[in-house]
Amino acid sequence: MIAGKKAGIVSTGRALPVVRLTNFDLEHMVETSDEWITTRSGIKERRIISGDETNSGLSEIAARIALEKAGLKPEEIDILIVATVTADQLLPSSACLVQAKLNAHRAAAFDLAAGCTGFLYGLTVGQQFIETGAAKNILLIGVDTLSPIVDWTDRNTCVLFGDGAGAVVLQRVEEGRGILASKMYSDGTKAELLDIPAGGSKRPTTVRTLEERAHYIRMNGPEIFKFAVKIMVESTTNVLELCGKKPADLDFIVPHQANVRIINAACKRLGLSDSQVLVNIQRYGNMSSATIPVVLDEALEEGKIKQGDLLTLVSFGAGLTWGAAVLNW
Ligand code: ACO
Repeated sequence: MIAGKKAGIVSTGRALPVVRLTNFDLEHMVETSDEWITTRSGIKERRIISGDETNSGLSEIAARIALEKAGLKPEEIDILIVATVTADQLLPSSACLVQAKLNAHRAAAFDLAAGCTGFLYGLTVGQQFIETGAAKNILLIGVDTLSPIVDWTDRNTCVLFGDGAGAVVLQRVEEGRGILASKMYSDGTKAELLDIPAGGSKRPTTVRTLEERAHYIRMNGPEIFKFAVKIMVESTTNVLELCGKKPADLDFIVPHQANVRIINAACKRLGLSDSQVLVNIQRYGNMSSATIPVVLDEALEEGKIKQGDLLTLVSFGAGLTWGAAVLNW
């Protein structure tokens, strides 16, 4: 019996597509170079779904690994949250498809759309169910398969994104451990900085929307860059303050992996050293909701994160949305 009332991440898993698309491959697709992409973003390669790989399929693989590590059977999951903006279909949710694949027959299942902040939003939502006692076992998956909605003729966006999935199991943990504080934010007045104009109920698919290439991601990169550095600093500082901590107390910051220059600029302002920052963007690019759980899973596997470490997770994304959480691992 666990004495504490805090929610925490008790296990992690990840799944990445087989196909690697390198910067050198992109040189043959758009007018770009490995040198430009590496120096402007830090990305060297990304994974792209192919064959029968899907959003729900990657989710299932990542979920089974996390469940196995937690010693949990699918039928013990109370709530299954899939943080994504790229479900297999518009209807039903990816969560219901994953629920069926896992045969998690006791679980309520829903998708959560908060752009690249989806995993952090899902963490905070799941935390509430655990801490109130309404749920015992939550499976949270951060997954995005952006490659089908990226315009492969637009060098401003296509070099930045990749596909992948990360899963975590949330449960009550011992006193003093788990999620110490979390905070979610949004500003819908900046929605146009990153959107897909057509394919929804306002502009359903027509020959014209297809001709306009309006079903692909459109992004104002420089504006998001400035916004991202600012909110990463502010939200990290704020969430640490909520639990009486400072950036210097952190063992690790686990930032959303959108651009290594965003990460470096924010971490410099927070006074963090390179050894406090977890980065894997060079191998995967921006996988939206999957970035944070995949970085976490890799760092745990490499033995970097240890019990008792103080972490801040921080993310930003379309919406605009952003959020941060402090965890005592
Ligand atoms: N290869 C070569 N040149 C390029 C490429 C490319 N792939 N892409 C853009 N350029 C060109 C531009 O056209 C521009 O040329 P111009 O001056 O002749 O017009 C030039 O490079 C400089 O472009 P900038 O936009 O000034 O470059 P910047 O330093 O801002 O880097 C980038 C661009 C990488 C997009 C950056 O702004 C960025 O990362 N922004 C944040 C994006 C982001 O985080 N998006 C996702 C957030 S939410 C989520 O995660 C879903």
